[in-house]
Amino acid sequence: MGTKAREIVGKDVKKIVALLNQALADEWLAYYQYWIGAKIGHGPMRQIVTDEFEVHATEELKHAGMLVERIIQLGGVPVLEPKEWYERTHCGYAAPNNPSIAVLLKQNVKSEQCAIGFYQKLADACRDADEITYYLALAIMKDEVSHEEDLEAYLKDLAQK
Ligand SMILES: [Fe+2]
Ligand SMILES: [Fe+2]
Repeated sequence: MGTKAREIVGKDVKKIVALLNQALADEWLAYYQYWIGAKIGHGPMRQIVTDEFEVHATEELKHAGMLVERIIQLGGVPVLEPKEWYERTHCGYAAPNNPSIAVLLKQNVKSEQCAIGFYQKLADACRDADEITYYLALAIMKDEVSHEEDLEAYLKDLAQK
């Protein structure tokens, strides 16, 4: 499986699979951060913001699927144990200990900014070595940029209340 795909990427396969697995761990943690935040968030604009969190959660899960597909194409093994999410993560997990909508929004903006930076790094690492992963990183980064913008717009609205 994936012999030609691996051949094209050549010597960088291991490094790229490791980066993809790091991103995969981040996506699962981002998924849960949004999903649980949508359940417990409260305060002004609760409904509209938690609805948005649910949409973002779905998209983070979609990203996880895209990453796994590419890892398998490259002959790698996707992270199999949830405990490894914490070991591999680049952006970490921000537990919503304070369920205020404003606090959750700020936590998630920070996580999105980290994700944007990471996908930029992944794209840079793949630009010459692996064009498929390069375009995958850009496609996911486009969603993260739009997530950041959504959340920042809600924070602005909240500040005007
Ligand atoms: Fe994502
Ligand atoms: Fe995101």
